[in-house]
Amino acid sequence: MSGVRQALLSNWFIRALSTSVGQKLVMGATGLLLCGFLTVHLAGNLLLFQGAEHYNKYAHKLHENELLPVAEAGLLVLFVLHIILAFSTTRMNTGARPIGYREKQSKLVGGLEIRPHNYMFLTGVIVLGFLLLHLSDMRLAEWKMRLPYDESMTPADHALMVLRDPISATVYILGSLVLGFHLLHGFQSAFKSLGLNHPKYTPFITKLGVLFAIVIGVGFAWLPIWFFLLKK
Ligand code: HEM
Repeated sequence: MSGVRQALLSNWFIRALSTSVGQKLVMGATGLLLCGFLTVHLAGNLLLFQGAEHYNKYAHKLHENELLPVAEAGLLVLFVLHIILAFSTTRMNTGARPIGYREKQSKLVGGLEIRPHNYMFLTGVIVLGFLLLHLSDMRLAEWKMRLPYDESMTPADHALMVLRDPISATVYILGSLVLGFHLLHGFQSAFKSLGLNHPKYTPFITKLGVLFAIVIGVGFAWLPIWFFLLKK
């Protein structure tokens, strides 16, 4: 790509990000791509149930792939964009709607009325906290911030040690369930943000979103539930 075209494209992207429609579009696109990552990540981690051999084979294959650093960099960009836009759109929404305060009050009065879309920011922040602990456990394990680590551990040994640590297990169970709650609204909302809203398809997407949220939330939570609580 020529320098001029690249400059035009990045200029267009930055200008799009300064509008609320552009922000919603990028929020939806990054959210859906992150859902794709979660699906692949869960499938990989469920191999632990098939046995250490299968999990280690998968982990070694993943690490041998020369494109892994590129995929990791892309993933980081997705997370960072999604988080920055979450702060920005939340600020825009609360600033633009005077009704926000009244809505908050009614949420307190009708304390039992739990609607996932009212809690997107809060659940997102909780998932971010879980993710930071998770990255320090798994991705930055060599830094030994909290848990022991040595080179002779296989990927399965290491994952099981993390899942059997009481603090990690508790945070992973709660964090995964909160992630599921976040996706309960997030999945279908991403389609709407991308303009994919149609009376014929939206009910199906909404149901698919509920199924996806349950599979991801319960699927990830099941790993520490099984390896820490049930099969010590
Ligand atoms: C509870 C079950 C989970 C287990 C056992 C697990 C396991 C792992 C492992 C072993 C790694 C390191 C991979 C590597 O070194 O290449 C990793 C990385 C990662 N995990 Fe998880 N994970 C779990 C849940 C999650 C959830 C729910 C999220 C998202 C909210 C997540 C997001 C990530 C991210 C972003 C990375 C870094 C990816 C990379 O840089 O390669 N994980 N996970």
